[in-house]
Amino acid sequence: MNRTVKIFDTTLRDGEQSPGSSMNLKEKLEMARQLEQLGVDIIEAGFPMASPEDFEAVQAVARQIKTCQVAALCRATQADIDRAAQALRDAASPRLHMFIATSPIHMEYKLRMSPQEVLQRIESSVRYARGLCEDVQFCAEDASRSDREFLLKALQIAAQAGAGTLNITDTVGYAAPEEIFELVSYLREHLPQNVTLSIHCHNDLGCAVANTLAALRAGALQAECTVNGIGERAGNTSLEEVVMALHTRRETYHIDTNIRTRQLYRTSKLLSTITGVPVPRNKPIVGANAFAHESGIHQHGVMNNRSTYEILSPEEVGIYQNRMVLGKHSGRHALEERLFEMGYQISSRHLDEVFERFKLLADRKRTITDRDIEALVGSSATPIREAYRLKTFVVNSGSVISATAVVCLEMENGEDKEHVARGDGPIDAAFKAIDRIVKKGYSLENYSIQSVTEGEDALGEVVVRLKTGDGVITGRGLSTDIIEASIKAYVNAVNKAIIQQQEI
Ligand code: KIV
Ligand code: ZN
Repeated sequence: MNRTVKIFDTTLRDGEQSPGSSMNLKEKLEMARQLEQLGVDIIEAGFPMASPEDFEAVQAVARQIKTCQVAALCRATQADIDRAAQALRDAASPRLHMFIATSPIHMEYKLRMSPQEVLQRIESSVRYARGLCEDVQFCAEDASRSDREFLLKALQIAAQAGAGTLNITDTVGYAAPEEIFELVSYLREHLPQNVTLSIHCHNDLGCAVANTLAALRAGALQAECTVNGIGERAGNTSLEEVVMALHTRRETYHIDTNIRTRQLYRTSKLLSTITGVPVPRNKPIVGANAFAHESGIHQHGVMNNRSTYEILSPEEVGIYQNRMVLGKHSGRHALEERLFEMGYQISSRHLDEVFERFKLLADRKRTITDRDIEALVGSSATPIREAYRLKTFVVNSGSVISATAVVCLEMENGEDKEHVARGDGPIDAAFKAIDRIVKKGYSLENYSIQSVTEGEDALGEVVVRLKTGDGVITGRGLSTDIIEASIKAYVNAVNKAIIQQQEI
C-alpha cells in the first residue's frame, strides 16, 4: 500500500529569501494560484513579522487560496505568533509554522539561551500558538546539527503542547542521506504516532533532494520544497525533482503525492518569468536540456524506442511537443483552444493581451510554436495600464563609433516623447534614452536574455531588474529582435514601477 505524503511549498517564503528572487504582491498571488493548480498541500506564503510587505502578502494569499492550506512562519515569541495569526485570520485552512533553533551552536551564539530556556520557550509558545490556531507546525531549526536526545526532547515537548506537525531541518545543508534516514527513523520510533514528521532541507552540498527522499523513506509524511529549488545560498529541495523521483520510482518508494505533475513545467516557467531567474539548462525535470538528446547514438535509440534513454516522458511534466500549428491567420479562438490544450486557464482579459502579442509576433514570424505561446502568456502580473509604450527606436553601433539610440515612447495621454543617448553598446544607449524620457532615476540591477525557440527567427526573451528605491521590479520583453526585446523589457519594468508607486 502506498503512503501519500504532503508537499509543503515554501517558494514564497524560503525561496523568496534568495537574492534576485523577490516578488511583489501581485506576483506572489499569481504564483500562489499556480501552486494551487499544481496541487501542493500547503503554501507557506511568508514571514509576517519580517516586514509589512510580507504581512500583506500572507494576508492576500490567505484570503485568495481556498483548496490548500496557507502557512505563515513565525519565531517562538508572542509578538511573532500574534502577527502571523493575524495575517492568517481569513485563511480557509491556516497553519502557524513556528521555529526555534535546537543546535548547540545556534542556541549559544544566535539565541544566547540555555538548552533549558529553549525547552521552556518551546512549551510556552506552542501552547500560546495553539490558542490562536488549531494547526501548529513546530520547527527545530538546525535540527541536523542538534544533539539527538535534546532534539527528541524538544520535539516531544512541542507535540505535548499541541503541535500536530514537527519539522526536522537541515538548515545549513550539511547532512548526508544516511544520517537523515537514521535521524528520522529514530524520531519516528520515539515520537507519538499521531504527529506528522516533516523534512526541510537545504542544498549546500547538493544533497537536498536525496536527504528529503531519505527522510520520506524513513517515515516523514511531509516534504518542504521550493519550485526550481530556489532558496537561501544553494537553495532548498527542488519540488519538481522530489515529486518526479517519487512518481517515476513508485515501485521503490511506494509514496504518492497530490501533485498534478503536468503542471510542473508551467509552474517552473512562471516562477522564472516572474523573478527573471533563468532555469539552468541542465536542471533535472524542467531544464531546457532535460529531454534533449544530442548524441547520435542516443537519438537513434530514442527514435527506435523512447525508453532506451528516457525514464520519464516530457508530457508527464507538462512539456508538450514543439508543434508549429498557429500562424498569421489563426484567430483568437484557435489560440484559446491551443492554450486550453496546453493546460492554461487564463482570464479573458489576459487572453486579450496574449492575443494582441500573438498577432504582433505572427506578423514577424512564419510559424508560432508552443514554446512561443508559453513565452507570450508569461505572467498576468504584467500591468494592464501602460504609462509608456514603445513607439519607435533607432540604434547605431559599431566597433569604431560609440553606440547611440533614439527612442520614442508614447505616453498614456497619446503624447510622444523622444530622446537620444550615447551608451556602452546599443542596449545601454537605448536604456539611457528611456531614462531621459521617464526621469525616474531607476538603476539597472540585472539583465538577462535567452532564446525561447531555435532557428533564425527565434523569439528572444529579455528580463531586466530595476532598482526603484521601493525595491526591485522585474520587466520582461519579447521579440525576434533582441534590442527591441530589451527596450520592451525596460519599458515594462518602468511601467510596473510607476503603477506600483501610484498604488502605494
Ligand atoms: O532552513 C530552515 O531551518 C528554515 C526554517 C526556519 C523552517 O527555513
Ligand atoms: Zn530553510
